[in-house]
Amino acid sequence: MAKPSFVVWFFLALSIAFLASSISADRSFGQVCDASRFRELGLKMEDFGFCDSSLPYPVRVKDLVDRMTLPEKAQQLGDTATGVPRIGLPAYEWWSEALHGVADTGQPGSKATFFDDQIPGATSFPTVILTAASFNESLWKTIGQVVSTEARAMYNMGHAGLTFWSPNINVVRDPRWGRSQETPGEDPLVVGKYAVNYVRGLQDVEGTENITDLNSRPLKVAACCKHYAAYDLESWLGSDRFHFDSKVMEQDMRETFLKPFEMCVKDGDVSSVMCSFNRINGIPICADPQLLKDTIRGEWDLHGYIVSDCDSIEVMIDGHKWLGDTPEDAVAQTLKAGLDLDCGYKIGSYYGNYAGSAVEQGKVGEAEVDKALKNLYTVLMRLGYFDGIPQFKSLGKADVCSEEHVELAAEAARQGIVLLKNDNQTLPLNYGEIKSIAVVGPHANATEVMIGNYAGIPCRYVSPVDGFSAFGNVRYETGCADVACKNESLIFPAMRAAKKADATAIIVGLDLSVEAEGSDRVDLLLPGYQNQLIRQVASVSKGPVVLVVMSGGPVDISFVKNDPKIKAVLWVGYPGEEGGRAIADVVFGKYNPGGRLPLTWYGADYVDMLPMTSMAFRPIESLGYPGRTYKFFNGSTVYPFGHGLSYTQFNYNLKSSKRSLNIKLHKLQHCRNVNYSASAYKPMCPAVLIEDLKCHDNIEFEVQVKNVGRRDGSEVVMVYRVPPEGIVGAPMKELIAFKRVSVAAGRSMTIKFVVNACKSLGIVDYTANHLLPAGRHTIMIGDGAVSFPVNINFKY
Ligand SMILES: *[C@@H]1O[C@H](CO)[C@@H](O)[C@H](O)[C@H]1NC(C)=O
Ligand SMILES: *[C@@H]1O[C@H](CO)[C@@H](O)[C@H](O)[C@H]1NC(C)=O
Ligand SMILES: *[C@@H]1O[C@H](CO)[C@@H](O)[C@H](O)[C@H]1NC(C)=O
Ligand SMILES: *[C@@H]1O[C@H](CO)[C@@H](O)[C@H](O)[C@H]1NC(C)=O
Ligand SMILES: *[C@@H]1O[C@H](CO)[C@@H](O)[C@H](O)[C@H]1NC(C)=O
Ligand SMILES: *[C@@H]1O[C@H](CO)[C@@H](O)[C@H](O)[C@H]1NC(C)=O
Ligand SMILES: *[C@@H]1O[C@H](CO)[C@@H](O)[C@H](O)[C@H]1NC(C)=O
Repeated sequence: MAKPSFVVWFFLALSIAFLASSISADRSFGQVCDASRFRELGLKMEDFGFCDSSLPYPVRVKDLVDRMTLPEKAQQLGDTATGVPRIGLPAYEWWSEALHGVADTGQPGSKATFFDDQIPGATSFPTVILTAASFNESLWKTIGQVVSTEARAMYNMGHAGLTFWSPNINVVRDPRWGRSQETPGEDPLVVGKYAVNYVRGLQDVEGTENITDLNSRPLKVAACCKHYAAYDLESWLGSDRFHFDSKVMEQDMRETFLKPFEMCVKDGDVSSVMCSFNRINGIPICADPQLLKDTIRGEWDLHGYIVSDCDSIEVMIDGHKWLGDTPEDAVAQTLKAGLDLDCGYKIGSYYGNYAGSAVEQGKVGEAEVDKALKNLYTVLMRLGYFDGIPQFKSLGKADVCSEEHVELAAEAARQGIVLLKNDNQTLPLNYGEIKSIAVVGPHANATEVMIGNYAGIPCRYVSPVDGFSAFGNVRYETGCADVACKNESLIFPAMRAAKKADATAIIVGLDLSVEAEGSDRVDLLLPGYQNQLIRQVASVSKGPVVLVVMSGGPVDISFVKNDPKIKAVLWVGYPGEEGGRAIADVVFGKYNPGGRLPLTWYGADYVDMLPMTSMAFRPIESLGYPGRTYKFFNGSTVYPFGHGLSYTQFNYNLKSSKRSLNIKLHKLQHCRNVNYSASAYKPMCPAVLIEDLKCHDNIEFEVQVKNVGRRDGSEVVMVYRVPPEGIVGAPMKELIAFKRVSVAAGRSMTIKFVVNACKSLGIVDYTANHLLPAGRHTIMIGDGAVSFPVNINFKY
């Protein structure tokens, strides 16, 4: 009798599930090419070639576009595509976001992604700047996979689109930038590798990663690398992103601003790129055929669509007053430049309103409109929007905020957290000995603060107070009313808590009122009385003190470096919904931290040395500007790029290396000049254009990483190159490879690196030539304790 009753229960459960899904079916959406859908519209699906799945995508997409009238076409070119009911094409909202979890922000009104009783939240990972600090490529990809699983489940339930305008891969040029938290930091290689992994995690459908026809490669969801390019200023002392003209040298474009985008398109095979608001050297980017059509689609071979940042066309006309354009002129120009989709936010889509009249006025051919539509519908075909993708059909509510996903959010925060200071091995705190902990500061009970911007509604929050409660009795005091901390009256209660507790965690930092989209910082300090709170609480604390800094961009905490009462400091970015748990796990040694700073932490005086509007990375001596990022700034820092300690110690041993390359040139390969400082040795043949070389030469070496401490831990092995001495304008050093490894106490691990000589040792000179210089290059592991030379020699 047991069996039948199980069967009965099973079918009962099934029919309840079916009932539940049919109740909610009003907003959910199966697939366009569904015969019963067409029947309900009074149409016969067989009549429509675009639904014939035996035909290749280009044929189907052409059939679809050819069926539309010009006004109907124009209506499909905005983010809120109206659809064409006449031919069975439903409306589609292109705008969804998934920067560090499925998000619903940035889109007021009824847009594609939303939360309600049915889907109350989605897993909210740390903001990208902290995830980047893990320097763990497989983590970046795994997060992408989990986010796209949740996104696809939400799509199945009618709660999300399929096209997500993430990640943000602008290099952080200036520490004041309000959106640093959204990005993987200041190093173009790290940013590019993050982009490739996150995009592949979001997009790739298992088993089809390597399909050769990239125009039909299936997509789990579509990602978008943004904001192209040289965009990293929000609003700073009178300059703002809607009016700003980035005066950029070609050298910096090629070397820094474009590099992550190139990697994202070529290696990540991203299906979308978003152009930004600003101008570059006078031309609004979304209207620049050289930057869009020639570079992204031509040189890099994008398979996908190019979308504008929202209202870019309006900004072009009203903000930049570019060429005094009429709407039709602007729309004609952006279509011709290669902009496929126009996101309209304040006033609707310019494409929707003016693409038809621009064609009718003869300013742009209808073929340009068709080309844009074909790029768009090819992506929707690849997403299964028309035909479905069987392996995702079963994803639903149980796949959002699952225990496994929530654990990954905690794990990501733990992996990213950076131990900045740990004198006398103050951390980890001893779990048995410490019975009470004062948890004080404006972020002591942080919740929303931990998920930063472009966030959705998280599954839950574990605040620092919650996290520490698992390890002892918490005495909680805010110390400040908020981040601005304009009033010192709350410091005394915090001091009282610290006086009594066995240990003190002071949790300070910034939030979206200080650094955000639309607002840059004007200084690098903790706001208001936060410094005073730290000093006063630390000075009276009974037990050990750990300072925890929650921020996206760097803050000048140099006063803490030499404060003997504050022996331990952690930077935790904005650590996501599980952040408090991760912080407590690190403080009490349940996890040994291994994160590294993805940004240079400049001293506060840095912002007085150069305006945020100066785009150059190299120092400008005539103006007294120091350089930017670890590659070009040679002054002292609060903490350098790549800094991060562990509770154990690691030693490096270089196992093998290839030390010289003699490259024989033939008569069509020519030596190029390189600027050397007067005193330096200059080789006879100083350099060769990389595009003239075959570039098969690899440099291989093995690094043995030994954990010589008493705790298991993970280490980020960072490999830098140092160019030959004396080359004017070359970076002081540059990251060329990195790998995070776990090594048990007393054990060692050997990592093999293979770097391509041209890719890793080349330089971009002041005329934007990509050159491989001859001479003595150096490969350096970590901060330079281990290094070896690579001599490059050109001979005819
Ligand atoms: C795709 O190619 C990559 C790199 O060559 C390889 O690691 C991976 O296993 C391949 N995937 C499939 C499904 O063949
Ligand atoms: C560590 O502790 C010892 C003894 O308490 C002290 O002399 C020393 O200065 C401390 N070192 C640091 C870096 O704080
Ligand atoms: C922490 O914040 C949460 C959410 O704002 C609140 O519910 C909770 O009571 C706070 N905890 C303490 C100890 O004040
Ligand atoms: C500081 O805050 C306290 C308590 O909230 C309030 O009573 C006091 O007036 C404030 N002082 C100032 C100068 O704002
Ligand atoms: C840093 O760069 C400046 C400007 O190029 C130069 O004058 C100075 O000597 C450099 N300082 C160091 C410590 O290398
Ligand atoms: C490099 O040398 C060329 C030719 O001598 C000179 O015109 C140019 O200004 C130099 N560039 C730099 C960055 O020093
Ligand atoms: C990198 O992240 C992955 C995924 O979370 C994890 O399994 C792995 O242990 C991490 N590697 C290190 C060295 O921490």
